[in-house]
Amino acid sequence: MTGNKKAIQEMKRKAAKEALKFVKDRMVLGIGSGSTVREFIKLLGTSDFDTQEIVCIPSSLDTENMLIENNMVVGTLNQYPVIDLTVDGADRVDKDLNVIKGGGGALLREKIIAAAAKDLVIIVDESKMVDELGGSFPIPVEVIPHAKEFVKKKLLALQGEPELRIASDKLGPTVTDNGNVILDTDFKIISNPTIFEGILNNIPGVMENGLFPNYIVSRVIVATEKEIKVKEKT
Ligand code: 5RP
Repeated sequence: MTGNKKAIQEMKRKAAKEALKFVKDRMVLGIGSGSTVREFIKLLGTSDFDTQEIVCIPSSLDTENMLIENNMVVGTLNQYPVIDLTVDGADRVDKDLNVIKGGGGALLREKIIAAAAKDLVIIVDESKMVDELGGSFPIPVEVIPHAKEFVKKKLLALQGEPELRIASDKLGPTVTDNGNVILDTDFKIISNPTIFEGILNNIPGVMENGLFPNYIVSRVIVATEKEIKVKEKT
């Protein structure tokens, strides 16, 4: 690991550690996906909590595997449709706590466990923070394969630049845990994330998009090399 990668990894661990403060005994926890969440799972698994009394609802097969490896109790959203707290990472966070997620392709289930939770805590290192979401990171749009070209046209009409996500260890597109494909779509300007989230989801064939407007976010924990900032919605 290079020095910079090591520093980022350490920031991810620190943000994950801070998130443990929001966990309480016997909670139903939604667990996001990605490398920052992996740190959270490891810390939770070795914490003083009675982890056999905490039920974790995973947002991806990857997270489910991690939870099992760390001896956590895994439940389904159908068993526990109300989640006390969801903890998840992010690809970008703006100054108003609007978020882009889905770099790991788990956005659909991540959005569901975020919406089902009483509280959503986002954990990031400082490299994810931006002033504006527009132009900072493409919005992943999960689409049923049948509608791929139709949705592409609609995204182009919205001034987006859609690109089919290609798998790195298989031929062809990345296929999500739900059997769909992803159009990573760069938008130079996102003036109102809440309205824009709805516009994208209204395109027939779109299952979900990776814009998580701040109405869904309770707080964001940002780790820098020197400190931890807990940003609350104002
Ligand atoms: C997966 C996600 C992740 O939370 C996001 O990509 C951040 O990942 P990492 O913690 O590895 O930087 O949205 O779909």
